[in-house]
Amino acid sequence: MTALREGSPRIVRREDYAPPAYWIDSVDLTFDLDPAKTRVLNRMRVRRNPDVPAQPLRLDGEELNLARVLVNGQGTSFKMDGGQLVLEALPEGTEPFELEIFTTCCPEKNTQLMGLYVSQGTFFTQCEAEGFRRITYFLDRPDVMATYTVTLRADKAKYPVLLSNGNLVDSGDLDGGRHYARWEDPHRKPCYLFALVAGKLVCRSQPIISRSGTEHLLQIYVRQADLDKTEHAMQSLMAAIAWDETRFGLPLDLQRFMIVATSDFNMGAMENKGLNIFNTKFVLANPATATDVDYANIESVVAHEYFHNWTGNRVTCRDWFQLSLKEGLTVFRDQEFSQDMAGSPSARAVKRIEDVRVLRTAQFPEDAGPMAHPVRPDQYAEINNFYTVTVYEKGAEVVRMMQTLVGREGFARGLKLYFERHDGQAVTCDDFAQAMADANPDSPLAQHLEAFKRWYAQAGTPRVRAQGQFDPERGTYTLTLRQSCPPTPGQPTKAPFVIPVAMGLLDHQGHALPGTERLVVLHEPETTVVFDGLQAAPIASLLRGFSAPVILEHDLSDDELLVLLAHDTDPFNRWEAGQQLALRRALAAVRAAGPVHEPLDGAFLEAMRAVLRHPALDAAFKELVLTLPAETYIAEQLDEVDPQRIHAVREAMRRQLAHALHDDWVWAYEQHKDNGAYRPDAVSAGRRALTGLALHMLCLAARDNGNPVWPGKTYQRFKDATNMTDRYQALSALVTAGHELGQRALAQFHDRFHAEELVLDKWFALQAGAPDRDGDALPRVQALLQHPDFNLRNPNRARSLISTFCHANPAGLHRADGAGYAFWRDRVLEIDAFNPQVAARLARALDRWRKLAEPYRSAARAAIEAVAAHEGLSTDVREVVSRALA
Ligand code: PHE
Ligand code: ZN
Repeated sequence: MTALREGSPRIVRREDYAPPAYWIDSVDLTFDLDPAKTRVLNRMRVRRNPDVPAQPLRLDGEELNLARVLVNGQGTSFKMDGGQLVLEALPEGTEPFELEIFTTCCPEKNTQLMGLYVSQGTFFTQCEAEGFRRITYFLDRPDVMATYTVTLRADKAKYPVLLSNGNLVDSGDLDGGRHYARWEDPHRKPCYLFALVAGKLVCRSQPIISRSGTEHLLQIYVRQADLDKTEHAMQSLMAAIAWDETRFGLPLDLQRFMIVATSDFNMGAMENKGLNIFNTKFVLANPATATDVDYANIESVVAHEYFHNWTGNRVTCRDWFQLSLKEGLTVFRDQEFSQDMAGSPSARAVKRIEDVRVLRTAQFPEDAGPMAHPVRPDQYAEINNFYTVTVYEKGAEVVRMMQTLVGREGFARGLKLYFERHDGQAVTCDDFAQAMADANPDSPLAQHLEAFKRWYAQAGTPRVRAQGQFDPERGTYTLTLRQSCPPTPGQPTKAPFVIPVAMGLLDHQGHALPGTERLVVLHEPETTVVFDGLQAAPIASLLRGFSAPVILEHDLSDDELLVLLAHDTDPFNRWEAGQQLALRRALAAVRAAGPVHEPLDGAFLEAMRAVLRHPALDAAFKELVLTLPAETYIAEQLDEVDPQRIHAVREAMRRQLAHALHDDWVWAYEQHKDNGAYRPDAVSAGRRALTGLALHMLCLAARDNGNPVWPGKTYQRFKDATNMTDRYQALSALVTAGHELGQRALAQFHDRFHAEELVLDKWFALQAGAPDRDGDALPRVQALLQHPDFNLRNPNRARSLISTFCHANPAGLHRADGAGYAFWRDRVLEIDAFNPQVAARLARALDRWRKLAEPYRSAARAAIEAVAAHEGLSTDVREVVSRALA
């Protein structure tokens, strides 16, 4: 990935795809594991691809020391070309030959965490996307699929556990205190799914019997001290296995399925065949150390990686441009799983709202900024930069729209056809869409397939403008929907999208009008729908359930939005109406001149009170409605952004909510605070979330009125808490409100949890994200960089402090003196020197600099230019900053 540190990076283009000139049918790897010098013997059966003109074999490699190359047991000539090993004198014909390559590498010096590396004395691998080439010379591309046999040899005392993909077929002792294990993976796979683990680990084991009666062994490997934090991940895994069998008829195809946790990991987790490797953050939980959010994340990430076993591993990507083929589909599947696990319709809606919130606060800005790219990108300099919210979350929305267009059963049929056609193959997004359409020939998807696929090809968030006309004479309501999409880099104009708009009509008393529920499928710039037989002008509830990833512009009045908030049958649109009302007020106050006053009016506050006190709504839903739109989401609505003004406005709104609803917050707290023994279910998690919001509000109000009662109660709750969710929320309420008790609580929290890495990450993140008051956030973060527990090399720790500040504390980062940008610049460069992937993600924090008002804009540009001018920048960061400046 960083072979090219100098010169202009090579651009890889989708249209240049060509099949490989050789196939590798089988791989036999032998590792002599040593942190300083690991020896890798790679014996492959290779043959020419008869469909491609004869040419030399070019194998990818990076940071390898080559010792020997043999072809059919004989020495051979070779040359090196830009990191590739080139073999010209190969046997003629298409008969397979044996290629043996012996290399060494240095895992303990591998700070990028790609390829083979050491974390806390244990060996791990990470090969997606292009890390296998850091282990041995290979055709490192996903369309080359082979069977693997892997022998691991290592010191037995230091590395008692030796794991790789597939089934354990042999193990035993060797001389000199060493031992070995031999693994065979019967499934052909691309090399990005290879994995090994060697170290001192213990495991939780769980035998299971599938619906069809086959036996399997599930295992989760962790450090000894973490064994008591593996139950939830195991429960989640079992639930995911059962769900995939029930909903899609997809069984576990392995005797053994293993998950291993590591503290040092660039991403969330990795779906290596039969041997998933996870960031500890997405495995480890017990009530004392993990919050409800952690529990929910673990459930969905464990499921996500498991679901890849079919969508990703059995059928994989032809090339990396097709990444969303596996990621968009697998995110969609994990979202559906989490909704099914949540249970009640209202809990499902809560999950949907959370997913849409991520899409709108992270993906919409990406799609409107310099890194905007289609779900299936056309080019990249560094593929690691394209593991994005667009490929993942927007990709999942594209799959969701297909389900909306063909129905739930139709979707299951389409998936079945996809596996019938492509099991064992490396395919494209077109193949997936084609299977969906072919399995549902009468659906609007099949009807508009070519136009629908523009979702894969065109970047940018489409806008849908809705205008309603009521004709009292005729009793008709005419709805006109017009779509457009702004230009994105390299795509000045767009063709129309296929947009499913789920909708219904209400009367002004909030009753649903019978017979008006529809799925309107837009496929032209303008679409008109007519409803008749109406007595009075209706209110349109459009884009229910967020049926398409678009920005909807409508002409609903505040009064009409208030009706939707109070009465819509679609819970998503109830929430959305509340967000729209809040957004209108936020934008008005941001745009107004002079000091920020009170942005919220009586009608809005009364509506919020009604939701909070509502006897029938779930706590989780109330918490979502009563949470104001994020500062970054408010910023997205503006052409010119003053982050300080937005922060001031949103804080003023929060304080108004805190004061005007004070008694209601007290009531909400008292009603929801007692939840018995900890269980991470949706209902009790919702109650804890609302309790937490109430405490935040009550501490905020106390800040203004100087009344110590609620900070005192909050501090007491912090001390008495019996689970991390309650404890963390109380701590956060004190710290966020800037109360002095917050400092005391932070110190106690640190004392109590200093041995728990993941809890310490929360401790850093809370302080990094705490609201800026008179410029205090940056110095606070700078001081924490010096804290003995801070460690820049550990991605989780670096992100908890630095990324939280740069991505989630806009008022702290965007300072008039430019010091926030200088901090960003220095950290990006510092991290880039040893881990380009982590650095490139941090670099994206200034993507939207062009929208900033002065003096922010010039200062941000100067910082980005300084990074771009740095010598020896990685390809990863170079691509991000040069796009930002383009
Ligand atoms: N494929 C992983 C997932 O989404 C993500 C990942 C990508 C992990 C690259 C590591 C490296 O499930
Ligand atoms: Zn994935």
